[in-house]
Amino acid sequence: MGIIRSRKVQAEMNRRMPKAGTIEIAPSILSADFAKLADEIGQVEKAGVKIVHLDVMDGHFVPNITIGPVVIGKLRKYSNLVFDSHLMISEPERYADEFIKAGVDHITFHIEVVPNPTDFIKKLHDAGITAGLCLNPETPVGKIEKYAHLADMILVMTVHPGFGGQSFMQEAADKIKPIRQIVGPNIRIEVDGGIDSKTAPIVTGLGADTLVAGYAIFSRPNRAEAIEAIRKACR
Ligand code: DX5
Ligand code: ZN
Repeated sequence: MGIIRSRKVQAEMNRRMPKAGTIEIAPSILSADFAKLADEIGQVEKAGVKIVHLDVMDGHFVPNITIGPVVIGKLRKYSNLVFDSHLMISEPERYADEFIKAGVDHITFHIEVVPNPTDFIKKLHDAGITAGLCLNPETPVGKIEKYAHLADMILVMTVHPGFGGQSFMQEAADKIKPIRQIVGPNIRIEVDGGIDSKTAPIVTGLGADTLVAGYAIFSRPNRAEAIEAIRKACR
């Protein structure tokens, strides 16, 4: 007798984001050479990371513009990494289908621009991908409290979104501890902005397990060494 899986169970099985409980480094492409993105992503994949963080900016929610589903769809053919897309755009619900079609494994959206996070998270799950809720540095933890348990990841911004290479904001990182208390051990807490071998142990010490690093990796000629330096600092 064949096994008939429900759409929900199948979607559950398709999710590729590593389960919470391990420290993962997610290189952010923002400081990579955009003219050779596939090669740049290939280098961090070879260095052993599981996730690549794709920063999508619309020039409206943030004062910068990067890439969209067209470029991500092309990159998909060159990489088997988990595509962690960070949508810094004003209407993520409107464009989600395009990103899903392009092959992202995960969408993180900003709580500041989504009036109904419950429905949006459900939509992403039904499509078989994981969902992340992001808070800007000035957004209080209370804003996500009601929805946090529905998500697979909470993304804490430790810089104002828009640009790579900014300085880490400790006061924003201080939200990690209360968020960990709210979500427990089974939801990833990702930190984005100013992460390097000095700040990574601070945020893992507070309860984060997913470290986005752009400048600290892609400004170095040897990406594998840069990744290893961050890993080592967290041990
Ligand atoms: C900032 C982006 C980040 C950025 C982090 O708006 O969301 O992902 O690339 O860059 P670094 O690691 O250079 O602070
Ligand atoms: Zn990001």
